[in-house]
Amino acid sequence: MSKQKSAFFCSNCGAESTKWVGKCTSCGEWNTYIEEPVIKIKKSVYGKTREAVIPKLVSEISISPEPRLNSKSVELNRVLGGGIVPGSVILIGGEPGIGKSTLMLQFSLRVNSYKILYVSGEESEQQLKLRAERIGGKGENCYMYCESNLDNILLQIDKLNPDIIIIDSIQTVQSERVESSPGSVVQVRECTGAFIKYAKENNKPFFLIGHINKEGSIAGPKVLEHMVDTVLAFEGDLNNLYRILRATKNRFGSTSEIGIFEMQSTGLKEVPNPSDILLSHTDEILSGTVVASTLEGIRPILIEVQALVSSAAYGIPQRSSTGFDTRRLGMLLAVLEKRAGFRLSAKDVFLNIAGGIKVSDPAIDLAVIAAVLSSDLDRPVSKSLCIAGEIGLTGEIRPVSRIEQRISEAQKLGFKKMLISKYGLKGIALSKYSIQIIPVSKVEEAFKVLFH
Ligand code: TYD
Ligand code: MG
Repeated sequence: MSKQKSAFFCSNCGAESTKWVGKCTSCGEWNTYIEEPVIKIKKSVYGKTREAVIPKLVSEISISPEPRLNSKSVELNRVLGGGIVPGSVILIGGEPGIGKSTLMLQFSLRVNSYKILYVSGEESEQQLKLRAERIGGKGENCYMYCESNLDNILLQIDKLNPDIIIIDSIQTVQSERVESSPGSVVQVRECTGAFIKYAKENNKPFFLIGHINKEGSIAGPKVLEHMVDTVLAFEGDLNNLYRILRATKNRFGSTSEIGIFEMQSTGLKEVPNPSDILLSHTDEILSGTVVASTLEGIRPILIEVQALVSSAAYGIPQRSSTGFDTRRLGMLLAVLEKRAGFRLSAKDVFLNIAGGIKVSDPAIDLAVIAAVLSSDLDRPVSKSLCIAGEIGLTGEIRPVSRIEQRISEAQKLGFKKMLISKYGLKGIALSKYSIQIIPVSKVEEAFKVLFH
């Protein structure tokens, strides 16, 4: 028997090479080459020739105003840009156990107006049934199919003629055209290609569930994300109940929309008003807690920033933060020390964003500083105050994006005052808000307002 040939493939861009190379000559990434058996093309049952398709002038192409399919989920529709586009291929990635299968199964069971085929290569029929009972929903029009062979899947799709197809997961599907194990770069690329071809030719939407690798990107070649129409990331802290569905690529909508869900014992529940849940409802006024306005996509969300400052028990003071970049915390503490004269270098500082949310929006800088000072001085900040402002290295308070939406959200949730940058006031009609806006330009000034 002849030795099986293998080649090396870049796991980032999918480029092929006969020998291992450290740096990909195609995409320039380092250390991405992995060895895989070479493709052996066999005859396949799928794929029709499209000789009937000929090049057309732009003016000759007519747009059929095809309606988007309603997913019956406000949050999912929003992330997709208003519903599912027929013939589109949507890739959903996320950590194991985050709830990808739950999200798609729940969607399949609740949408009764379309015929849905849920293909699972990961779970047995019994397991799916158990999960379906847990989630509830009639699923009158939902077919389950446990299979991982690509040709069989495409054959059943042809026979059943469903309106929407879900593949859980793309890493378990195997094509006989390719002699390598499921989940390998070549297999994933081949199978995704086949589904995309089928989707476009038959105008049927596909949801592909994808595993992610340890760096957090979807396992398989990066080209996969280029091939599909939409990439959704399902994120969240496994120890926490909130999950965020975010579009990182969308050919048919904006990528700034997000959907928020809460994992419950009966499946995922939509969260229409996240700020309401993320803020604590105690009447007690405590030091070290401040409400900040942040943006998730284009949605303003109010969150609670908590800080604890105490004298360092050991030589080197600790700086630790959850949900906020520790280096940025270090920078903010340096600004406080150098520009505003607060001595925190001999103190431990712990910072926490309540609710397990990760925030990268610089607009919470000012709230972080306020929480740290409040804890250090042991003086509470008013519970009716909301804060939005970025801090520059010179201690100036810089304006933040979408300030008007942030103000409206704070007002809607019943806050009485809002601290914002003086430089962000241009063009804002303050008279239309009932909430009192307090503009500040420097950290010292904010300090006076907060702890006068
Ligand atoms: P799952 O959808 O299997 O995750 P993925 O497909 O992304 O790997 O979800 C898994 C977790 O969700 C699992 O740990 C159990 C939990 N879960 C609930 O809390 N409630 C439910 O109703 C269901 C179905 C799952
Ligand atoms: Mg799963």
